[in-house]
Amino acid sequence: MKPRWILAIITVNLLILAALVFIYPHLMVAPGELIPAHSQIETECFACHAPLRGVTQEKCASCHTVANIGVLTTRGVPVVKAK
Ligand code: HEC
Ligand code: HEC
Repeated sequence: MKPRWILAIITVNLLILAALVFIYPHLMVAPGELIPAHSQIETECFACHAPLRGVTQEKCASCHTVANIGVLTTRGVPVVKAK
């Protein structure tokens, strides 16, 4: 029979790990940094991700107007292309 305190320690560790995933998602589960243009929403995962559905186009379109991509920024400033 295993001593109970070992199971208790394992349980507590798993609970702490599960909590950290939700408290620090950008450190625990993000695959890497976002492009510099998105650095302001680095820790707002649900700006792009929908629970259980992944990244949806609707989320991108909530900030970006599809017809303006590559022409105007989200703030309506013309995009200047590098030569
Ligand atoms: C600016 C939008 C944006 C934000 C904000 C964002 N992501 Fe993502 N993420 C993406 C895109 C786009 C992909 C690629 C999705 C694909 O290939 O279907 C992705 C992929 C991932 C993946 C790989 C698995 C998958 O669903 O394809 C993980 C894990 C992930 N993101 C975690 C995070 C976490 C955690 C955060 C917050 C800390 C975060 N992301 C914030 C856009 C974003
Ligand atoms: C919370 C708002 C928000 C969401 C959601 C968002 N973006 Fe952005 N995105 C921005 C801002 C702000 C910029 C900076 C330039 C601007 O204002 O257009 C930007 C810039 C970009 C750029 C230009 C990058 C560059 O360096 O010029 C691309 C491409 C882009 N976003 C694609 C996406 C895609 C694809 C998604 C969905 C996965 C997405 N964005 C979701 C706010 C958002």
